[in-house]
Amino acid sequence: MYKCALILAAGQGKRIKSDLPKVLHKVSGKEMVNHVIDTMRKVDIEDINVIIGKGSELVKEKTSSRNVTYSLQEEQLGTGHAVKCAVDFLKGKKGTVGIFCGDAPLIKNETVKKLLNEHIEKGNSATLLTSILKDATGYGRVIRENDEVLKIVEHKDCNEDELKAKEMNAAMYCFDIEELLECLNKITNNNEQGEYYLTDVIGILKNNGKKVGAVVTDYEETIGVNSRVQLAEAEEILRNRINLRHMENGVTLIDPKGTYIGEDVEIGKDTIIYPGNVIEGKTIIGERCILYPNSRINNSCIASEVEIQSSVIIESTIGDNTTVGPFAYIRPDSVIGKNARIGDFVEIKKSTIGDNTKVSHLTYIGDAEVGSGCNFGCGTVVVNYDGKNKNKTQIGDNSFVGCNTNLISPVKVGNNTYIAAGSTITNEVKEGDLAIARAKQRNIEGWVNRRGLTNK
Ligand code: UD1
Ligand code: CA
Repeated sequence: MYKCALILAAGQGKRIKSDLPKVLHKVSGKEMVNHVIDTMRKVDIEDINVIIGKGSELVKEKTSSRNVTYSLQEEQLGTGHAVKCAVDFLKGKKGTVGIFCGDAPLIKNETVKKLLNEHIEKGNSATLLTSILKDATGYGRVIRENDEVLKIVEHKDCNEDELKAKEMNAAMYCFDIEELLECLNKITNNNEQGEYYLTDVIGILKNNGKKVGAVVTDYEETIGVNSRVQLAEAEEILRNRINLRHMENGVTLIDPKGTYIGEDVEIGKDTIIYPGNVIEGKTIIGERCILYPNSRINNSCIASEVEIQSSVIIESTIGDNTTVGPFAYIRPDSVIGKNARIGDFVEIKKSTIGDNTKVSHLTYIGDAEVGSGCNFGCGTVVVNYDGKNKNKTQIGDNSFVGCNTNLISPVKVGNNTYIAAGSTITNEVKEGDLAIARAKQRNIEGWVNRRGLTNK
């Protein structure tokens, strides 16, 4: 059966006090609205329409990689009005539409699946997700009669009895598309807030003798983020969930509370992660790695048995058994080979470093291709920028680059070469050669005494 989804994301979110639209605030390193979109994809919903309004251009930009369509709600007149703005998307479709909120990122795939299955199996016109709370203050209340859902009443519109209801509306639903479209025309803004409520559709369906069902789930999954405090709460819940998953898969987290792993990160078993690590984006980490404290790894691919310490690695690849850090900075588009060493205060930018190559300390390598088995002395600089252009340097296999060498790009250094410490290399060094490019040492005998500079 055809299914699609609407994601409500038009509100600014006043209580979050931000210039950024609320749904673009991140939890576990990913925008809330993108969490919701990705969850829809995981339950095989392909056709996704995001309803945008406040900051619409920015929301479009930040969701652009996810192949969704948009409906514009210029004025935020309520959740029912928001769905009305997506009529063009829904018109002519037959099947199920899931409606979710861009500010509720904690909903699990399993729960969305359960909601969809219940809706389809029971042949419902609408199925809502609810949660039972001790105190449902602020939420829309699910009102039941003989156990069946009768309607939803918003907190501000509740009478005394309705206020006592403990079942809250999570604002996540499945609807039969055609029946939803019919009911949307019937909702009014005749309520305490003067808004068009999507929740009114439930009562209207029920009055027309239609079948409405509900799935009850954990409150935690339904939390909508309205403020910075709730943003931090959502962050903690998601962090715990992600960390638990990795520990269950055989990853050691020395201190899960201080370990920050993005939702889309994959980590192999027997990898050990110390606190203070931030692992972001679509990073993949192999088996038996050790991540000592305080690194940030973003959208990178780390092979197995790699050791990393207090370093930053962005959009790069690190081969098996290589060590990185402490205090290395590996910038985008770098590929480091196997058994390599990238040591302290080394910066690598858009460069390839071959297997077994050692860049142990205080070195900058940018826009370079470095072969395997090379050794870089302390303080080497690839001078890749001439003030106008970025130029490339190539270094062959098994080359020895002495301390404090400058390699003025573009320049080539062949296989099996030596460069003497302190050289500034501007011309090609051919295979098998030693290059020395520094002034010859001259000693002036007795100079200090003659100048009367001796400290006696
Ligand atoms: C909504 C539900 C309430 C439920 C609660 C759960 C309604 C009328 N009420 O209330 O029953 O218990 O969620 O958290 O639906 N939005 C738009 N356009 C609008 C208004 C809202 O896109 O015109 C979006 C918001 O950006 C947000 C979502 O819809 O992502 C929910 O809106 P919000 O105003 O937060 O609804 P609540 O009052 O929390
Ligand atoms: Ca809300």
